[in-house]
Amino acid sequence: MLDNPSDASSASDRLREAAAVLSAELDILGEPVEDAEPPAWCRQRGWDEFLLSLGERELRSCEESGLEAGLRALASAPRDLVRLAERVRRVTALPRLGISALQLPAAALRGVPARKREQLGALLGLAAPFAAGAARVVDVGAGSGHLARLSAELFRRPTLALEREALRLRTARRRAEQRSRNLGALDVRFAAADVGPERLELENTDLAIGLHACGDLGDRLVLAAAAARSSLLLCSCCFQKITTPARAMLSQAGGTLTLKKPVLGLANLTARARGVEASLDDNLRGREARLCLRRLLQARGVPVGAGEEMRGVNRRRAQAGFAELAGTVLAARKLPPPTPAELRFHADAAEREHATMRRLSLPRHLLARLVEITIVLDRAAALEEHGQHVLVAELFEPRVTPRNTVLVATSDAKRVAALRVE
Ligand SMILES: C[S@@+](CC[C@H](N)C(=O)[O-])C[C@H]1O[C@@H](n2cnc3c(N)ncnc32)[C@H](O)[C@@H]1O
Repeated sequence: MLDNPSDASSASDRLREAAAVLSAELDILGEPVEDAEPPAWCRQRGWDEFLLSLGERELRSCEESGLEAGLRALASAPRDLVRLAERVRRVTALPRLGISALQLPAAALRGVPARKREQLGALLGLAAPFAAGAARVVDVGAGSGHLARLSAELFRRPTLALEREALRLRTARRRAEQRSRNLGALDVRFAAADVGPERLELENTDLAIGLHACGDLGDRLVLAAAAARSSLLLCSCCFQKITTPARAMLSQAGGTLTLKKPVLGLANLTARARGVEASLDDNLRGREARLCLRRLLQARGVPVGAGEEMRGVNRRRAQAGFAELAGTVLAARKLPPPTPAELRFHADAAEREHATMRRLSLPRHLLARLVEITIVLDRAAALEEHGQHVLVAELFEPRVTPRNTVLVATSDAKRVAALRVE
């Protein structure tokens, strides 16, 4: 058992442990809480009475600090729920990488948001010794090109940046050209590539990097790095962005565990009072507004399932509040605007329903980080099975981004051993 996450267990062993905990709770993952009715998994485990008895303060504490911490104060918590929370904590605990972030030139960062700057400083700090030994840096899913541009500037290695979105590529090229005017030509090439339909070819001497390479882009990067035995630094995110309905494990150690898209989406959840993009209050308000909207649409005879109510409208609009959201969505669906009575009725009903759903959702939300870590460990185990030396750790503080894991892989054992973990 891994009480100390920096124990030298293999990624495959850690994956087997995480997958065993997850596999025993697949029914919870498979049945989201979509109304005030306790789901079958909740009733069968006898958790509904306890969850529904939680007061507002207790609920809030479980939502903010995670179920394990929240349950500690509650003598009436079911023993098996407490044990599950403890197991999840143990198998998801990661060491923190003690990295000296690189000081980035201010002139290279104009218009780059503060949190992205912190991510770039930390990841480039981690990358420095790997880049020094690499013939080329390959940034996969380069977005607006900050990582590739700074990497070329700081490490003076030929850098290839791959991105499929034309607009982002244009921005990336423009910014690199601007910087080149001040510094002299940067050796960075931004290439249009849709990795997947197009094959990602890496070399043994490459350092491949994915900063928040989403969904199956992350998997493809791992497979290419495993095949070439190139060094890899991968920060994972948005696991649900895949082209298939479900994700199978890449590694042998992961066995036959398969996770469907909606389960992968759960891994995006963040339990924080002050969220990264939005606070917990903002998120709760947004979720309640979406529920109000779903009920309003259903009452109007529009058959919308959970998650479909926002179709065609940016999800962030939900945080503007129900009245504004309903106006926008009904207009987008070419339906008459909401009446004040309709807004009042659905706001009141959904407030009660949402309060119940928040309580019933706690065990499912507990599993969110477990889904994330299981996938990251699967990627690490796949690389390990190809003879790579790997480390999975936290690279960023959660305040910088909740998708804060990094997977380090290299064929050089000394490089991993040299990394300082806390
Ligand atoms: C979450 S963003 C991260 C962007 C950048 N690395 C950063 O951290 O700011 C993921 C990027 O990967 C790109 N992407 C996703 N799938 C891709 C694929 N299959 N091939 C190439 N680019 C892809 C997206 O267009 C997007 O720009």
